[in-house]
Amino acid sequence: MIILHWIALNKELILTKRKLFIESYGCAMNFADSEVVASIMSEVGVETTNNEMDADIIFINTCSIRENAEQKIRNRLKHLRHNKKQNKQLTIGILGCMAERLKKQLLEEEKLVDIVAGPDAYRELPILLQEVESGHKAMNVILSLEETYAEIQPTRLNSNGVTAFISITRGCDNMCSFCVVPFTRGRERSRSPESIVSEAKDLVSKGYKEVTLLGQNVDSYLWYGGGARKDFNKLTDEEKSNSVNFAKLLEMVAHVNPDLRVRFSTSHPKDIHDEVLFVMKRNDNVAKHIHLPAQSGNSRILKKMNRTYTREWYEMKYNRIKEILPNCSVSCDIITGFCSETEDDHKDTLELLVNCPFEFSYMYYYSERPGTLAARKYEDDIAEDIKKRRLSEVINVQHDIAKKLNRAQEGKVHRVLIEMQSKKNENEWMGRNEQNIKVIFPKDHYNLGDFVDVIIERSTTTSLIGKGITK
Ligand code: SAH
Ligand code: SF4
Ligand code: F3S
Repeated sequence: MIILHWIALNKELILTKRKLFIESYGCAMNFADSEVVASIMSEVGVETTNNEMDADIIFINTCSIRENAEQKIRNRLKHLRHNKKQNKQLTIGILGCMAERLKKQLLEEEKLVDIVAGPDAYRELPILLQEVESGHKAMNVILSLEETYAEIQPTRLNSNGVTAFISITRGCDNMCSFCVVPFTRGRERSRSPESIVSEAKDLVSKGYKEVTLLGQNVDSYLWYGGGARKDFNKLTDEEKSNSVNFAKLLEMVAHVNPDLRVRFSTSHPKDIHDEVLFVMKRNDNVAKHIHLPAQSGNSRILKKMNRTYTREWYEMKYNRIKEILPNCSVSCDIITGFCSETEDDHKDTLELLVNCPFEFSYMYYYSERPGTLAARKYEDDIAEDIKKRRLSEVINVQHDIAKKLNRAQEGKVHRVLIEMQSKKNENEWMGRNEQNIKVIFPKDHYNLGDFVDVIIERSTTTSLIGKGITK
């Protein structure tokens, strides 16, 4: 009965709604989720389009990480009023973190929104669309302890056919006091290794050359045979011996094909262990780059941020990476002007950047997020102009360091995977070296998706420029 009902709903959907335009904001996980959404929708006959004017349905997969991320979506919605005026049948859905954070409030505040769907509710999207068809607004923001969309084969969107993301965990169990993600994405859960390996194999068979394993905290990946993630110490002996941790998973994916380049992101300094570093060392196809956000260089602030490590611990991890993997690049995230940060605390962050040179870094000023631990417990007491001034100091120091690190590569040869035509010059390729730095070089006889040895001739803060030497 239930199945028949589903089919009836879906058939009607096939007849009435045809084209879907998906727009994604925020982190790579959100972009990966949009590909899951596209796949779910294609199952009910709704195909994606790259042209929003062609679409009957527009889904915006949103981010809540900072206030300005949400502001961007609000501005976008203002523009969409025009689309809705032109096409009264247009259905607008807000997906992702902002949907989860604001729930019903979003439907009340943004009148043109028809659907609000949180990150664990995407299987329900066909039903939600059906509700809209029958004249109602529709919402599902229930978070799950189990949902990993494990068996769904993502429909690759705007793909270069060369690089792809594979989600390995969802949610986050760390409660960094500034961060909204545990509230918008729920508890951490790991996807089965079989489904991850099979997705990697499928990508290889389709000609992809690189995969990035994604999670908010990849190093806490743990699969012990099913269900939500448990504390390792609470597993039975049998569960323990059958369990797969991140190091094992990384090696399983590395073994899918020696020519598949494997990346991963993000690593938490408290969870990355030697075992992962040794897997990286013994597998040439695991790219030598670790994204290891520090957030601050001051231990008091780190404690307040609930990052559970100190400045010394961070430096020790950084040095351990360089000891085991001398060629490994490390990148970072920094937040300036967190609650109670003094000028001296800020100087500690500048000093960290010097002590632990990062090839690149994503840098932000603190943005208070409603509902987080910091919003409830601490005063957002650093004036915006100070937060911004500290941010620009951090950016300046970081750029100088990146420039020097890149300059040191001049004259050296890097193995680069060609990802796309350079944005600035149609006669040049853009690819990345193992360290995840952009490399620009003349197209010559090379093709998209080729691995090319490039000799570096010049460099900037963000890229290396050279010439291919592979015959
Ligand atoms: N899971 C990753 C980070 C995810 S969010 C980790 O633990 O490192 C990406 C980055 O956004 C964070 O590393 C942090 O630097 C920044 N960020 C998160 N919340 C923020 C906030 N409230 N204000 C400013 N930046 C924030
Ligand atoms: Fe947010 Fe911290 Fe989880 Fe990263 S580890 S997603 S910063 S709570
Ligand atoms: Fe943004 Fe959600 Fe990612 S808040 S950074 S889209 S997990």
